[in-house]
Amino acid sequence: MDESTGGAGSTAGNRATLTATSTPASAADAAVEPAQWRHGCRVDEMAEGAAMFKAAGRRIVVITIDGRLFAFDDFCPHSGGPMHRGELEGCVLTCPLHGWRFDLERQGEELHGLRPLPMYPARIADGNLEVFL
Ligand code: FES
Repeated sequence: MDESTGGAGSTAGNRATLTATSTPASAADAAVEPAQWRHGCRVDEMAEGAAMFKAAGRRIVVITIDGRLFAFDDFCPHSGGPMHRGELEGCVLTCPLHGWRFDLERQGEELHGLRPLPMYPARIADGNLEVFL
């Protein structure tokens, strides 16, 4: 699969499993830059309303739920679990490694008060999916 477009899985219905594959971002990609809108992919490259790509040294997953875009880190804040393989129920995404659960509607808040999943504003502009980070 082309990693720039992801295919992070289907979000149809209330429950879905995210299925895209991933490779870790390198430490060299982690250079700090000022936040700005960054290109992710072309909208017509999104698979089933989802995408995964690297931006500003981070691997970002974007999914669509009820027509709304949600962009978040692919790496779980607990121990780096691959969030693109998480299970989605409504707007709650569960990490596949140890089950931390993140509410995407509440800025990635972990349901038990643990560390939140970093999330980012996302938009579509001129046929491009962009994230602000
Ligand atoms: S790595 Fe996600 S819950 Fe442990």
